[in-house]
Amino acid sequence: MNRNNKKETEERRIIKELSEDDVLSNPFEQFNVWFDEANQTEIVEPTAAILSTVGENNHPSARTILLKEVNEKGFVFYTNYESKKAKDIASNPNISLLFLWKEQQRQVRIVGQSEKISREESEKYFRTRPRESQIGAWASHQSSVIPDRKSLDNKFEEYRKKFGDKEIPLPDFWGGYVIIPNYFEFWQGRPGRLHDRICYKFEDQEWRIFRLAP
Ligand SMILES: Cc1cc2nc3c(=O)[nH]c(=O)nc-3n(C[C@H](O)[C@H](O)[C@H](O)COP(=O)(O)O)c2cc1C
Repeated sequence: MNRNNKKETEERRIIKELSEDDVLSNPFEQFNVWFDEANQTEIVEPTAAILSTVGENNHPSARTILLKEVNEKGFVFYTNYESKKAKDIASNPNISLLFLWKEQQRQVRIVGQSEKISREESEKYFRTRPRESQIGAWASHQSSVIPDRKSLDNKFEEYRKKFGDKEIPLPDFWGGYVIIPNYFEFWQGRPGRLHDRICYKFEDQEWRIFRLAP
C-alpha cells in the first residue's frame, strides 16, 4: 500500500463528524469535550498550543505554550511578563491560540484577548512547580539576548545558592495570562477533504454558531 492509500484508509477508519446540530451551544463546553477526548487519546502533549501575537510593528509572532487551566473566563497559560510575547500583548492584547490534535484529525482555533491574571492566582500555580522550574524562572530573562549557555547556567547556580532551602518566591516578572475568547473554530478532518468546520462567534451577548467551507 502506498503512503497516500494508507493515509486515506486511516482517515476512513476514524470518520468522526461534527455537526451544528450536535455541538454544544457553549463553545467552552464543546472545547472541554474535545479536550477530554484528546487527553484520553495517545497524543504526546494535548495541552500544547500555538500562541500568536502581534508586535508593535504589526508583525505576527508564534510560539508554543502549555494550557494550564480552562475556567469560565478563558484559557490560562504562564510565562515571563518581560518576554517578547508579553511585550506584544501589552501593546496589542489580540491573540490567537491554536490546538492541533493530529491523531484525532482535529484542530481548534481560538481568537480573543489576553490579560494578566491576579498575582494570587499566579502564586498558587508557581508553588505547584518543581523547584528547578521555580529557580529557572528567576534565572532566565526570557527573550533577552544572552552571551552564552554558561551565563545561563551560572545564573541558575547563583539563584539556587541564594534561595538555599527557603521557599522560592514568585518573581514580579512571571505569571499567568487568561485568554478571553470571542471566536472558536472546531475543525474535524473528514474523508475526501470534506472536513467539518463549526465556528462560534460571540455577538450581542451570545454565541452564534455557523459552518465554514473546508
Ligand atoms: C512544548 C512547548 C511548551 C512550551 N510551553 C511554554 C509555556 O507554557 N510558557 C512559556 O513561556 N514558554 C513555553 N515554551 C517556550 C516558548 O515556545 C517560547 O520559546 C518562549 O515562551 C519565548 O517566547 P517569546 O520570545 O515569543 O516570548 C514552550 C515550548 C514548547 C516547545
